[in-house]
Amino acid sequence: MVNPLSHIELSHRIEQHLQSWRLKLFKNEPDYFQWQRSVLSAADLSSLQQLIQYRQDQNNPTADIQFYDLAAAPEILPVLYSQRYRFFSEVGVAIAQRLGSARCVLDFGCGVGILTTFWASVFPDIEFVGIDRSSKSIAAAAEQAIQRQLPNIRFESCQVPHDKMTGIYDCIVSTHALFQAENSPGLCSADWNTFARSHDSARQREAEEQTGVGERLDELCQVLSASGKMILCEKTRHLGRRILLQQAFTQRELQLTSTPMSLAYETVGEPVEDGPLYEIVREGHEPALDWSEEPEWKKGQSLYDCSGDVVRQMSLALELFQNAPSHKIQLKEVIGGCTLQVGVWRSAISYGYLSTTSGFQGMLLGSVRDSPVIVQSWKRFTAMTELEIQKLILEIWGQEDVTPAQEPVPGYENHTVAAQEVWSALPDRTIQKEQTFRESDGRAMHIELGHSGALTYIYWANTYDQRQLMLVDSRHDDWLVSYYQESLAEMQSSSHF
Ligand SMILES: C[S@@+](CC[C@H](N)C(=O)[O-])C[C@H]1O[C@@H](n2cnc3c(N)ncnc32)[C@H](O)[C@@H]1O
Repeated sequence: MVNPLSHIELSHRIEQHLQSWRLKLFKNEPDYFQWQRSVLSAADLSSLQQLIQYRQDQNNPTADIQFYDLAAAPEILPVLYSQRYRFFSEVGVAIAQRLGSARCVLDFGCGVGILTTFWASVFPDIEFVGIDRSSKSIAAAAEQAIQRQLPNIRFESCQVPHDKMTGIYDCIVSTHALFQAENSPGLCSADWNTFARSHDSARQREAEEQTGVGERLDELCQVLSASGKMILCEKTRHLGRRILLQQAFTQRELQLTSTPMSLAYETVGEPVEDGPLYEIVREGHEPALDWSEEPEWKKGQSLYDCSGDVVRQMSLALELFQNAPSHKIQLKEVIGGCTLQVGVWRSAISYGYLSTTSGFQGMLLGSVRDSPVIVQSWKRFTAMTELEIQKLILEIWGQEDVTPAQEPVPGYENHTVAAQEVWSALPDRTIQKEQTFRESDGRAMHIELGHSGALTYIYWANTYDQRQLMLVDSRHDDWLVSYYQESLAEMQSSSHF
């Protein structure tokens, strides 16, 4: 069966559906919490807080079930689930667009059935079964199915793997239910200087056991028809969690059948990166797509802007105006009194430089991969009047800072996976001091102080994909050297990294 509704229609339908569940969309926290206080009694709020804390501390199924049982209470349900309004609208539509050919769908960990009832109303010819270990959530879901006159839906209380699931499904859906264990960082990388994971089946098994994802997936495989598919959206944007889940699929001979879809939305004003949403089938049924084990790269994530004194220091350290052969100049222009230059220093660092008649100097620095972003931004400058340039300066650098910096400021800083790319490209890297802390379970953390040309750097990296790089002009590196000593002392004194 082809999906009967377009994306626009589905989006419209889900908004109506969420409102019928008395869910509200909030754009900021103060409004949300004001509503929460006006709707819930002090007693409700206090039991909710206690259960949230208890669930966090205990991290076991009983605490989780108690929490979701309370969340299903009629007065609490809309308040709590409104926090996930945009999640529901994004994932609800994305999954609806992938359900069309199914006959019988299992919604694993369906909660109170907000999404299950949506899909059942959109696809009256598909049978839906929602299961959840919170019996009160299941009772609330069943009541809603009756009220909404949805004969194609059934809800069952079932704790997987403790209770056996019945039936065979040609589609299994799970949204934030298969991979609970939200605090688990998943698999660590093979070492601090790589994002690659070693394919160590013993370590994989151990992580699957700790998180419970392995046994849940095994049970789901038992009730999936031979040609059936799974549509899963779990919180696995973090690489260690993503690879753990991907390897769990591979080991069960499950393969990817469409490009994973990342989700980005807001929860009460806070941006959230969620998913990816996966479509999975058994091996041999459809052409397989390769799993990516690479970290995500967001365009422009290596970029760092600085202005004033730091630019003066960095432009000397990078020999910006010396026509050095190691410099690849991509753009050079003078407009009115403004000097613009874009280039790449020693195939390692891309930069955009700008100075104005008022004495302002600004730079944007990044990895070679982000060079096109800098070129594009600087090309915008070349088509502008001096007045327009002043405006854009305020947008990028915040202010026309022409005064010397009071506090030491790095010439470059990055706290994302891009830090590794810039660090590994640094030419003639010489390490002055370094220390690596290793644990018997394979975790490691590394800190390094070194030089590259006229730059001094500190680099931190660990096996959970955290990276940090700071660069300064070597003639002004005292504070960075002291910072290295302090950071090292802190790492040595902490019991874990
Ligand atoms: C974060 S909620 C998500 C609910 C629903 N899928 C949604 O998107 O609103 C997770 C749900 O999974 C259920 N759950 C977690 N582990 C389970 C298990 N092993 N067996 C059955 N249900 C489980 C919880 O009770 C809870 O209702």
